[in-house]
Amino acid sequence: MQKAILITGASTGIGRHLAHYLAERDHLVYAAVRKDTDFAALSGVPNIVPVQLDVTNLEQIETAVTFITAQGTGLYGLVNNAGLGGLGYFTTWSEAEFQQIFDVNVAGPWRMSNAFLDLLLAARGRIVNIGSQGGTVSKKLYGPYTMTKHALEAYTMALNEELRPFHVHVSIVQPGGIVSNIGANGLPDMVARLQRAQPPFATEAQQLLASFDNPSPPPDPNAPESESNRKPSSPEIVATAVDHALFADRPKLRYMVGTHWEGNRVINTLIDRLLDANDSPEHSYSREQLIALLDQQLQARNEAVRPLQ
Ligand SMILES: NC(=O)c1ccc[n+]([C@@H]2O[C@H](COP(=O)([O-])OP(=O)(O)OC[C@H]3O[C@@H](n4cnc5c(N)ncnc54)[C@H](OP(=O)(O)O)[C@@H]3O)[C@@H](O)[C@H]2O)c1
Repeated sequence: MQKAILITGASTGIGRHLAHYLAERDHLVYAAVRKDTDFAALSGVPNIVPVQLDVTNLEQIETAVTFITAQGTGLYGLVNNAGLGGLGYFTTWSEAEFQQIFDVNVAGPWRMSNAFLDLLLAARGRIVNIGSQGGTVSKKLYGPYTMTKHALEAYTMALNEELRPFHVHVSIVQPGGIVSNIGANGLPDMVARLQRAQPPFATEAQQLLASFDNPSPPPDPNAPESESNRKPSSPEIVATAVDHALFADRPKLRYMVGTHWEGNRVINTLIDRLLDANDSPEHSYSREQLIALLDQQLQARNEAVRPLQ
């Protein structure tokens, strides 16, 4: 048996894939799920111990801390994977929906990391937050979801700096589109939001709803990826990144995973931000100075990742 890892949201999608991925590699996986049926489905899987846990429920979190402590396995890794998706114009989100997505996607990792910190400190362990490329890019309809993933970026940076002196490393994995249940799980709420859209969004919302009833024919599978022809990746690429963040001697702070098209979108967004930051009367580097800064950063990074002698 190798290390003990707790994964939230292990019932479906990325979390379930990761639970099996780590268990097959002989790690002990505490797989946190909410529903009895998911608990039963994971019971008896070798190296997986299901745990009933909703990341918004403090009582269940405390019970899980007591349970895992009593197992005597310690806890080396916490993967904050549980998350809600959801699309809709800002004005169509109810107060309760808006608070809920922050409660699960942002306060959830904060609550879990706090609750399990003593065990993670004792193990000199790792925390891995499952962010998103939506922690860097954003677009209409994706507003609240991407706000939560932007918040998770700041949380990861600050928490990593807090915990590094105590030998706990914190990383964030930033997937693009991944095959999972997130779209289907968010569909009913999204439809309800589109149905209650008011002017000036009502016309476009009605067109979107109509397009669900009459979907366009599927694009040619050989057509290149584009905004209207997305090609979601396997959850395996997330599992591989989490594996590195958990077990590599030199884990990275950020792991962006996804397709080439998605990567281009993120890099162009970051360049746009860099140019915005540079476009200021008090502070404006020339093109040559910017390139020299990039070279310095690349060199510092190469030296930092040089293997230990
Ligand atoms: N799929 C993508 O394209 C994609 C891209 C970037 C980032 N991500 C991120 O990856 C993570 C996993 O998403 P997924 O794509 O695998 O979606 P998913 O298939 O919908 O799985 C979401 C998981 O979160 C759990 N969950 C929801 N609310 C919870 C709560 N209050 N407490 C505990 N668990 C809760 C769900 O449990 P139930 O089954 O009980 O509802 C489920 O296990 C999320 O953080 C998501 O934002 C996904």
